[in-house]
Amino acid sequence: MTVPARGLELAAMLSRLHHRTLHHLSASECETMSVADLLGLADAEDQARWEGLLLSYTDPLGAPWLRASVAAGYDGIGPENVVSFAGAQEGLYAVLHALLQPGDHAVVVVPGYQSVETLALGLADVSGVALDAADGWSLDIDAVAAAVRPNTRMLCVSFPNNPTGALLPPEQFSALVTLCRRHGLWLLSDEVYRLTEHDPARRLPAAADAYERGVSVGVLSKAYGLPGLRVGWVACRDTALIGRVARFRQYLSVCGAGPSEVLANVALKAGEAITRRNRGIAAANLSALSGFFARHPALFDWQLPEAGVVGYVRYAGADGVEHFVARMAEAAGILLLPASVFRSEVAALPADRFRIGFGRTCFPAGLAALEAAIR
Ligand SMILES: Cc1ncc(COP(=O)(O)O)c(C=O)c1O
Repeated sequence: MTVPARGLELAAMLSRLHHRTLHHLSASECETMSVADLLGLADAEDQARWEGLLLSYTDPLGAPWLRASVAAGYDGIGPENVVSFAGAQEGLYAVLHALLQPGDHAVVVVPGYQSVETLALGLADVSGVALDAADGWSLDIDAVAAAVRPNTRMLCVSFPNNPTGALLPPEQFSALVTLCRRHGLWLLSDEVYRLTEHDPARRLPAAADAYERGVSVGVLSKAYGLPGLRVGWVACRDTALIGRVARFRQYLSVCGAGPSEVLANVALKAGEAITRRNRGIAAANLSALSGFFARHPALFDWQLPEAGVVGYVRYAGADGVEHFVARMAEAAGILLLPASVFRSEVAALPADRFRIGFGRTCFPAGLAALEAAIR
C-alpha cells in the first residue's frame, strides 16, 4: 500500500517546528503527569502488577483487566467487546480497514482527525459534510442524510470535535443514530475528547452504547493527558466486527506495551480525579483566553468551545492566517496550527482559521507571549 501524503501535514509541521518551539499553543491534549504521580494513584492490585511486571509479550487484544477497565466506562460493553491499540490512530486505521472496501462509500463529517478522511479515501468513495462555521460549527443532519447512497457503509463523526471544540446536541446525536439504523450504516465515532465536556451534563452517550453498530474509539491521550502511554481502544457491541478489527490489529503491533497497560489501568481507575483536575486547568485557561480575545476583537473572532481543549479561531488580520502563524513561529517561537493543516478534500472548510490549545498549565505563559508578539 502506498503511504497517503494527505493527512500527514500536522505530523510534518510538528516535527519540523518542534525544536524551535518555545510555546506550544496548539497542543491538543490535557495537562500530563509523571509516572511517579500516576503510580501514586494506583490501588494495591495495580501496584503489585507494576512491581511484578514481566516484560514479555502481552495479550494481543490488550490485557483482560485493561479491557475490563475500559469496558467499565461504557454501559453495555464487556471486555470481549474491546480491543486495545497503541493510540486511537491505530484503532481508527483498523476499523476503517475492517469496514471499507472498493465499491463502498463513506460519509465523513469534517473537520476531524485528518487520517480518517485520508484513510477512507484510500479505501472507498467518500462524501464530506462540513460543520457550519457560520452557525457555531453546527451539523446539518439533512445534509448528512442527503449524502447517503445505496452503497454507503459507514458514517464517521467526531464529537467533541477537534479542532472546533463543537459538541452535538443530544437530539442531533440520536438523529444520526436513527439515520444510521435506517440505512444499516456503521457509525464510527471518534470519541477521544469524551470526558472533556466543559459542562459534564452535556456529555453525549458513547456510540457503542447508543447503537448496535456504533463503534467508539477512545484513548488516554486527550482527556487524561497521557499520550505517551499510547493506549487507545475500539469498543463495539458487534462481536463479529470486533473480531475483524482484532485481525487487522495483528498487522500493526503484535501486542501492547506491558508497562503502558498497567499505567493505563491505573489512570482508568483514577479517571474521575484525573479528568476533573484536567477540566479545571482547561476552564481556567479558557477564561484567560476569552479575556485575550475580548481585548483583540479586530484581529480574532471565535466560537467558545463546548468541550475539549482546542478552539478554531478566525484570524481577521490582512496578512492572512498562514502568514500570521508562520510569523508567530519564527519571531516568537509560538506554535499555532493554521487552516492548511486541517483542510479537507471532501468538503470546503474555512481557510482563515488557526487552532489554539488550552489544556496545559504552560498555557498562560504562551498566551502572554502571544499577546506580546501581536503588540
Ligand atoms: C480527534 C482525534 N482522534 C484521534 C487522534 C489520535 O490519537 P492518538 O495520538 O492517541 O493516537 C487524535 C490526536 O490528535 C485526535 O485529535
